[in-house]
Amino acid sequence: MKVSVFGTGYVGLVQGTVLADVGHDVICIDIDEAKVAGLKAGEIPIHEPGLAPLVLENQAAGRLRFTTNAAEGVAHGELIFLAVGTPPDEDGSADLKHVLAVARTIARYMDGPRTLVNKSTVPVGTADRVAAAVREVLQERGVDYPFDVVSNPEFLKEGAAVADCKRPDRIVIGTDSPAAEARLRELYAPFNRNHDKIVVMDIRSAELTKYAANAMLATKISFMNEIANLAERLGADVEAVRRGIGSDPRIGYHFIYPGLGYGGSCFPKDVKALIHTARSTDFSPELLLAVERRNEAQRRVLFDRINAFYGGELKGKVVALWGLAFKPNTDDMREAPSRSLMEALWAAGARVQAHDPVAMQEASRVYGERSDLVLAATPTAALEGADCLAIVTEWQTFRVPDFAQMAHLLKDRMVFDGRNLYDPALLARHGLGYSSIGRAAQDPAQQV
Ligand SMILES: NC(=O)c1ccc[n+]([C@@H]2O[C@H](COP(=O)([O-])OP(=O)(O)OC[C@H]3O[C@@H](n4cnc5c(N)ncnc54)[C@H](O)[C@@H]3O)[C@@H](O)[C@H]2O)c1
Repeated sequence: MKVSVFGTGYVGLVQGTVLADVGHDVICIDIDEAKVAGLKAGEIPIHEPGLAPLVLENQAAGRLRFTTNAAEGVAHGELIFLAVGTPPDEDGSADLKHVLAVARTIARYMDGPRTLVNKSTVPVGTADRVAAAVREVLQERGVDYPFDVVSNPEFLKEGAAVADCKRPDRIVIGTDSPAAEARLRELYAPFNRNHDKIVVMDIRSAELTKYAANAMLATKISFMNEIANLAERLGADVEAVRRGIGSDPRIGYHFIYPGLGYGGSCFPKDVKALIHTARSTDFSPELLLAVERRNEAQRRVLFDRINAFYGGELKGKVVALWGLAFKPNTDDMREAPSRSLMEALWAAGARVQAHDPVAMQEASRVYGERSDLVLAATPTAALEGADCLAIVTEWQTFRVPDFAQMAHLLKDRMVFDGRNLYDPALLARHGLGYSSIGRAAQDPAQQV
């Protein structure tokens, strides 16, 4: 089928590429000229496992093209995806300016029937607003082409986006049009062979489903962080508790890792937007408010501990920081806990020596050159000359470090671990102090 995708970010680029890979004829449109020029030259703007070869193969096969020319994109696709950003507005609501701009662009260039498929995460009622925007422009043009607006929320995970798009758990289609449903079923047939993953529902339910999914996952994270706080105060080990409850199939092991709170481009903004939506109906979402509050507190935990360890005297201290990306296998630093921590350390006068396997370029882009940030080429280089270590992202490469070398390099032999990567007893044997989440802290002074 002929498909156009507006927005070549984490969602649009991956979805467009995966659709091309099963044989659809795909054009991706973006207003970012540098990004499109790079993609045309085979440069992949994001780190996503497996994405680069797939883009290059499908580009070479002529099934995947990139353009900034919206008219060309609208002329091409019988199905047109909207996969642009929906960042939080100042009041926490989802800012729909990009989505509505694309809707108007499509209406400006449509020359026949089209199906608009919304993949951006948008509040309930947005499909109606998209339809109204299209209708308005068509009216201005004095034309009347039939069109459908379908809600088809995206559930991919950054870091596993290609695999998720190739093998989705479910494909939610929100529509009241049997013809649009049939077109989407045809589009997704190659992904729906093993068993039926397509869940068809009305548009508003589909829009809410996406927020409900992210809010549920955010709730699990905040819940576990709450238990971690309790465990610390009660002398329990949250890792034992995690295994103890995860083994219950009603609970499961996913998303119950205690840590530094949720971050990234989705959970924080989507929880905020759902709170905003709830309030707009005069309903107070007590649970979501608590989820958000717990998360905000949790994001400060590592800084508070480092600050307390140094008695509030952080000026001139050098903190090694492992992990910049908001989670492993991505270079995305949007709302990353590393940012809250670094910014708090800088405000207190400390310097940071950071290492991340893939997000260092993104860190340079975000922060530019600054004297209190060194981007170290290796995890070990980040430790050299540092007073202590803070671990923020659970990359595999941080899991089995050389603890003897770490103890030798860190002046204060102290590790603040926001991801519970290590066995506390092991660090104690190397004379390292260790502060993790939901487990009793140990001080190096008492160990050697
Ligand atoms: N990133 C994720 O893991 C994820 C997962 C599921 C859903 N979502 C949702 O999908 C949407 C997109 O997220 P993302 O992470 O891919 O965003 P992104 O910021 O990575 O990419 C958005 C792209 O849209 C482009 N764009 C903006 N206005 C445009 C226009 N008028 N025409 C063409 N292109 C335009 C931008 O230049 C950018 O390249 C959001 O609503 C997000 O909440 C994201």
